[in-house]
Amino acid sequence: MPIYYHEETKTFRLDAKDSSYAFFVNRFGYLQHLYYGAHISDTSLSELAYTAGHSSIHALPPASTGAFFSLDVSRMEYPCFGRGDCRGTALSIRRSDTGTVDTDLTYVSHKLYAGKPTLAGQPATYATADEADTLEILLHDTVSGAEVTLFYTVFRNLAAITRRVAIRNAGKNVLEVERALSLCVDFHDVTDMDVVHLYGEWARERSVERVPMMHGTQSVGSLRGASSHVHNPFLALCSHHATETAGDACGFSLVYCGNFLASAEMDSDGGGRVLLGIHPDGFRWRLEPGETFETPEAVSVWSSEGLGGMSRTYHRLYANHLVRGKWKTERRPILINNWEATYFNFDEEKIFGIAEEASKLGIEMLVLDDGWFGKRDNDKSGLGDWFVNEQKLKGGLKKLVDRIHGLGMKFGIWFEPEMVSPDSDLYRAHPEWALQVPGRENSVGRNQYVLDMTRTEVQDYLFGRFADVLSQGGIDYIKWDFNRNFSEVGSLTVGTERQGEIFHRYCLGLYALLERLHNAYPDLLLEGCAGGGGRFDPAWLYYAPQIWTSDDSDAIERLDIQYGTSFCYPPSAMGAHVSACPNHQVHRTTPIATRGNVALMGAFGYELDLRTLTDEEKELVRQQCADFRRDYALTHTGDFYRLISPWHDRTDCAWCFVSPDRREALLTYVVIRAKISIPRYVRLQGLNPDALYRCQETGEEYHGDTLMHAGYCIRKTNSDFHSEKLHFEVVG
Ligand code: DGJ
Repeated sequence: MPIYYHEETKTFRLDAKDSSYAFFVNRFGYLQHLYYGAHISDTSLSELAYTAGHSSIHALPPASTGAFFSLDVSRMEYPCFGRGDCRGTALSIRRSDTGTVDTDLTYVSHKLYAGKPTLAGQPATYATADEADTLEILLHDTVSGAEVTLFYTVFRNLAAITRRVAIRNAGKNVLEVERALSLCVDFHDVTDMDVVHLYGEWARERSVERVPMMHGTQSVGSLRGASSHVHNPFLALCSHHATETAGDACGFSLVYCGNFLASAEMDSDGGGRVLLGIHPDGFRWRLEPGETFETPEAVSVWSSEGLGGMSRTYHRLYANHLVRGKWKTERRPILINNWEATYFNFDEEKIFGIAEEASKLGIEMLVLDDGWFGKRDNDKSGLGDWFVNEQKLKGGLKKLVDRIHGLGMKFGIWFEPEMVSPDSDLYRAHPEWALQVPGRENSVGRNQYVLDMTRTEVQDYLFGRFADVLSQGGIDYIKWDFNRNFSEVGSLTVGTERQGEIFHRYCLGLYALLERLHNAYPDLLLEGCAGGGGRFDPAWLYYAPQIWTSDDSDAIERLDIQYGTSFCYPPSAMGAHVSACPNHQVHRTTPIATRGNVALMGAFGYELDLRTLTDEEKELVRQQCADFRRDYALTHTGDFYRLISPWHDRTDCAWCFVSPDRREALLTYVVIRAKISIPRYVRLQGLNPDALYRCQETGEEYHGDTLMHAGYCIRKTNSDFHSEKLHFEVVG
């Protein structure tokens, strides 16, 4: 078992593939962190405990022992507010008996077992007893009655450790949890480290920012109700010299779709603390005696092979131990979505016409986007009324679905279940179903309110509407959209003392509905979406194997967006479509070949009126569809390598996929800004250095070491937005 316990020094060492993580129970009963990094061999490590000299200003609990130990300058495993650790803490509990915030957790017991326990009602990674081992540590606070269990699951073949926390009120008085983070990692020295995170906005999600650690706290987070376009529940520390291929990198990712906080703090002594979990702002959870609160799961990944190594571990973990169901392994259909082709302006003939053309080109599924239901000719009305608008779709939905199936295509449909338009029959019948604060008029975002997903009758209504629509002749796919940030987060179902729970209870209600849908329709393919990529997070991957990456479908903008997204998420999860030119978001015109090459990185599809294409363009579409099918195994189960960053000097971008047996590789290169005839040597990664590879497109043959060290020479760099896709196979 890769979890070791050294009885004498009460030290735990957790080995996840090539990494080790260690902490121990000190003589006062506190869990002190010892190490996180590349694999180490010793378990008797308590002598490595960080004992900085502290001054008289630091509090020394418990004072009665006279111990030369301060929580404030030690590396702690799960620090709590109120007993002298004055850095950011993982847990804050307000006691109802005293009104104070003071928690003091010490070790009680632990257990070790093979496998990974499930997390009831929340998404989490999964593993069998052969794949992972778990350590549970029970801590308690004898004064407040708080009992805390720390869960660590260690993957054997991946350098990944999952963490979560359960907080139980084992006392007699109510406890108000004001902060309950999923993960804390203290580092001895972060002075030579950088912080990496993903920021953005609508249509510009997940740009990469890398900045040196500074004294004080750098944090990203969301208070928008969703993980958001603006920040992503992901943060990494890496050494200053870390590159894509070398150096230390450590990632932290939260399996959560709601408000989150990710912070990195450097103390005056150069020590560092990473915290990750539900954002404490707007959060408060009331624990009656006997009740338990469970945090979402956090996942840390260690890589000594740079940021690329870290990303590939996340890709494998999330693709194989988070995504579930049939579509985890089955090839996903190439889709045509009508949104950018028609927006709200369509009828059944127009949709059928687009599908008919698509079917001739090898596209496999028609997705009917926004506007098919209620009164919905623009975004001002209709959300919530999930009944087919038969004025638009004459003859009804079933007739259209049957006609599309008759073309040999699958059929998918758009919903935005969590929202309601004030101008809708649903809102007129149930104004109490919206999130709201008594005495305040609700704000609108995209002319809509947010439904109160904590209410089971809302979940039941939505499930009923899904069931009805899905029963109309075999619907194979749902695109689940979500188009506004939260405001006025209150529920009419609970009293004042529990309103602080609504942000999180909303997520739990959403998870319950998603789980119900997943169980009732195991073959349904779900695509997550939130005004583009506003909820591209691991929680969604548990329910939906693919997520619409961004509403910006321009191939060149997508280079940045997909590059950043790949830091934590597998390309197979990124919804990526070929759209019309000039592009509707940025008005750029790019070759359709390049639009295809960029979209072929992910969950592939089209989003334009195919009937407007020239014959030559249609032939290219046919070829792209064939390529997607041919390369599916490579792009969906192979390893992904970022080769040239689009951010480097904004000149070009390249990536490659390599099959697990390293016999095949697919290189994509895109020119962003043309240069006059300067050849570009693209150095591949992940190949077998000794094998001889042949490039299918050019017939050139090179050994893996040549391709990786000398690079493959791209000569045509003098044309804006030109791209190449080259397939290498081992021939000797
Ligand atoms: C936002 C999504 O990201 C788009 O793809 C589209 O579905 C629209 N909503 C429809 O309103």
